[in-house]
Amino acid sequence: MSERIIPIVDHRYAASVPQVPLDAALDRRQPLDRLQRPLHDLRISVTDRCNFRCTYCMPKEIFDKHYEFLRHADLLSFEEITRAARVFIDLGVRKIRLTGGEPLLRKSLERLVEMLHALRTPEGHPPELTLTTNGSLLARKAQQLKDAGLDRVTVSLDALDDAVFRRMNDVDFPVAEVLDGIDAAHRAGLGPVKVNMVVKRGTNDAQIVPMAERFRHSGVILRFIEYMDVGNTNGWRLDEVLSSEQVIERLRTRFGLHPLEPNGIGETAQRWAYDDGAGEIGVISSVTRAFCSSCNRARLSMEGKLYLCLFASHGYDVRALLRGDPAGGVAAIGDDDLRAALAQVWTQRDDRYSLLRGTAAGDAHRAERRVEMSYIGG
Ligand code: GTP
Ligand code: 5AD
Ligand code: SF4
Ligand code: SF4
Repeated sequence: MSERIIPIVDHRYAASVPQVPLDAALDRRQPLDRLQRPLHDLRISVTDRCNFRCTYCMPKEIFDKHYEFLRHADLLSFEEITRAARVFIDLGVRKIRLTGGEPLLRKSLERLVEMLHALRTPEGHPPELTLTTNGSLLARKAQQLKDAGLDRVTVSLDALDDAVFRRMNDVDFPVAEVLDGIDAAHRAGLGPVKVNMVVKRGTNDAQIVPMAERFRHSGVILRFIEYMDVGNTNGWRLDEVLSSEQVIERLRTRFGLHPLEPNGIGETAQRWAYDDGAGEIGVISSVTRAFCSSCNRARLSMEGKLYLCLFASHGYDVRALLRGDPAGGVAAIGDDDLRAALAQVWTQRDDRYSLLRGTAAGDAHRAERRVEMSYIGG
């Protein structure tokens, strides 16, 4: 087997063009990576822009008026995204999550939802389609998204107290509008709606119980996320992490809780239910209880780079294969070649950063320039 290898580097993040094996059409199996993990979940980031400046994700000092966001021509078109998604479904993907930046800032996103909803898995079903949003535009767009075929939404919300929320989004955005967005999504049938709260000790941990009170009995599933060391810009410190165990302890002093069985393999959250039947909550313990061993997620950036881990420092330039890159000497390729190239990339994957955090290998990795959350989405 001979291979083409054409490494290219852009001004943002290192990425190489995946190799196309010459026996492309031969192996139709769904690939497993080096840790025997299948590919099941594809997260597609559709824009690097956001109308919030959450201090832990897009700190204002860096993402200011001088920051160069991508040009429209650099973004994958909806047709390119849909083509890539079709190939990923052939490789095993069954769940697609649209993220950003803030995905609802991408113009006519509902058209992309329609196009993705028209795809079919080998079993003849549309892929499960979800969206992660900050909720600011959701009240206006929930029904359109539902009509286009979106199944569910997850809304990021870090506080119920208006002053704390405005401080955390750092653009003075009122919490009431996000709550309206959550209600609209619920009414439109984009459920079960999930709400993700990143917990930062000393910043919003006093909001844990009020958030739980607010979403009990509402049908919304509230999830508490351990603050992570993603990217290089958020100034992460271990002493600002409040562990899921501590979150559960605080909730238990107020409400009775019991653990639930996982919904499926590779789930990020551990599920809990209120003893009094008020619904379900979740904790996502990426720092204290890494879930890499079952990680079946790949991430495609808005400009078509594929990352195999949230903490990756290196990506694969899928856009060059989709559209060709004459300057880099890369020709566009057909779906069979694309499938084979992506299968090979997945087969070689051994990422497991959260498991390595705190070890020498993890420290070495942390020293590299890693992708930002706003670039690759949660
Ligand atoms: P559901 O199917 O809705 O339960 O989705 P999910 O839990 O897979 O997705 P979601 O995007 O809501 O993920 C929630 C949060 O978990 C993200 O915002 C991240 O903070 C974290 N997370 C998601 N995927 C990963 C991952 O692969 N690695 C790590 N370390 N954290 C992740
Ligand atoms: N740690 C944990 N979660 C984060 N998110 C963004 N940055 C971080 C971080 N450093 C979450 C957001 C949102 C999703 C896109 O990722 O709150 O829910
Ligand atoms: Fe925007 Fe979400 Fe990042 Fe906040 S966490 S700045 S809403 S992308
Ligand atoms: Fe997956 Fe990387 Fe997160 Fe581990 S740290 S769960 S490998 S994305």
